[in-house]
Parts: sequence; structure tokens; C-alpha cells
Amino acid sequence: MANTVKVLVWDIPTRLFHWLLAAAFLGAWLTGDSERWRLIHVTLGYSVFGLIGFRLFWGLIGSRYARFRSFLFNPSETWAYLKSMLANRPAHYLGHNPAGALAIFGLLGLGLATAGSGIAMDYELGGEWLEEFHEIAANGMLVLVLAHIAGVVLGSLQHRENLARAMVTGYKQGEAGSGIRRGHAGVGLLLAAVVAAYWAVYPSAATPPVEGGQTEALQGEHDD
Ligand code: HEM
Ligand code: HEM
Repeated sequence: MANTVKVLVWDIPTRLFHWLLAAAFLGAWLTGDSERWRLIHVTLGYSVFGLIGFRLFWGLIGSRYARFRSFLFNPSETWAYLKSMLANRPAHYLGHNPAGALAIFGLLGLGLATAGSGIAMDYELGGEWLEEFHEIAANGMLVLVLAHIAGVVLGSLQHRENLARAMVTGYKQGEAGSGIRRGHAGVGLLLAAVVAAYWAVYPSAATPPVEGGQTEALQGEHDD
């Protein structure tokens, strides 16, 4: 890559969203099976829902490479890119490439389906089928996450560029002037503050009266 300079590609809200989503998803996945971790599970699951909600909004008004418009590719372009990836000669994109975009829309959709079905269960909607759906969506998302990570590793090798590091620092090598001008630290700070406040407050605020626990014990005392 001759004549390239370091340019800012990923704004701060996009990077923060990414790593918070990865952590919340993995945490929710790991705690799904056990009653003991249910409150943490639900907190992280709602976080996934809220984070994706934020991303949908940021995809409309965010900086250049965060906008959905910048990574909406038609099927023939996506197909051509996937073939070129397999042939080890993929074209270089400064923002998301068509294969990455495919995984991203899949991850956002499955994240909404998984967290949405969890929330529906929380409101006691649906029956056993919803629990089944929740589990299948969660496992489907895990498979897509693994494919996503494999794609990131392959893309990094093919382009000799550390894509994961770029998702941390925001910078990539590109033509002068092709980067974004602002990191939108203010929006990032707001996002971090909302998530931190939610994590601090929700687990205690949401603690339900435990069945057979304190509430019933108190009633028992009155009966005596
Ligand atoms: C564990 C769950 C993960 C989820 C749910 C996830 C999800 C996503 C999503 C939604 C995006 C789009 C970012 C945006 O524009 O908003 C993305 C991009 C990206 N993710 Fe992940 N990710 C995960 C883990 C990882 C890990 C572990 C790595 C590092 C190896 C990684 C590296 C990247 C990179 C480099 C991009 C940008 C891809 C590109 O250059 O086009 N992700 N990921
Ligand atoms: C993307 C976020 C989420 C992921 C990855 C996830 C993943 C999982 C997994 C893997 C299980 C275990 C299924 C099983 O083995 O039976 C599970 C169960 C459960 N999840 Fe989630 N979940 C998420 C969000 C949520 C949310 C937002 C809620 C509620 C607000 C929720 C409530 C539950 C409940 C109540 C169960 C137990 C269902 C049963 O008894 O089978 N989850 N989840």
C-alpha cells in the first residue's frame, strides 16, 4: 500500500458499541443455562438489545464508515467479493467489506431476535416454543460470531492489516483525506455512561420478590 497514511475510520461510539456488544453477548451466552446467573443474564441480554438499538440509530446519523449506507452492497458485489476472498485476492475496502457487512447485518438481526425473544419471555409471552427459539437464535448467533472472527482473521492476513486493532484504535492505512474528521467522543461518553448506569442500577432494581422467599416468609409470619 504505497502512498497511504494513517486515517481515522471507526468513530468512538462504533468501537465502544462493538466491544460492549461482544462482551454482553458472550456474557449472556455463558450465563443462559443457569438459574443462579439469571439476573446477570437478563441484564446483559437487555444490554445487547439496547446496544443494537443504539447502533441502528448511529447507522443512520453516525460518521461516514459507521453509516449503513456505506456498507450496503448488492448481492452480485457481495458474491464477487466472497469469491475473490476464497481466491485469496480480495479487493481492499477502507470501511466494512461486503463479507463483513453480511456478517454484521446477520449479527444485528440475530442479536435482536435473541434478546427480543428473551424479553418476550421476561414478560411471560409465548410458551415453550419461545424458549426453544431463544436458544436456537442464541446458538445461531454464536456460530455467526465464530464465522465473523474467522473472517476478521482471514481478512487481516489477506490485507496484511490488523483489523481487530483498527476496531480498538479506530485507525487504518488509507489515502490521505479518506478518513473521518471527528471521533464523536461526546456520543461515546454518553453511551458509556448510560450502559454503566444501567449495569449499576438494574440488577438491584429488577430483583423480583423471590417466590417462596422473603415475601412468603413474611406472609407466613402474619398467618401465625
Ligand atoms: C463476540 C462477539 C462479537 C460480536 C457480537 C461482534 C459483532 C460485530 C459487529 C456488529 C460489527 C460491526 C461493527 C459496526 O460497524 O457497528 C463488528 C465488526 C468487527 N468486529 Fe466484531 N463482534 C464480535 C467479536 C469480535 C472479536 C473477538 C473480534 C476480534 C478478533 C472482532 C473484530 C471485529 C472487526 C475487526 C470488525 C470490523 C470489521 C471490518 O473491518 O469490516 N469482533 N463485529
Ligand atoms: C443476546 C442476548 C442473549 C443471549 C445470547 C441469550 C442466551 C441464552 C441461552 C444460551 C440460554 C440457555 C437456553 C437453554 O439451554 O435452555 C438462555 C436462556 C434464558 N434466557 Fe437468554 N439470552 C439473551 C438474552 C436474554 C434476555 C434479554 C432475557 C430476558 C429479559 C433472557 C432470558 C432468558 C431466560 C428466562 C432463559 C431460561 C429459559 C429456559 O428456562 O429455558 N435472555 N438464554
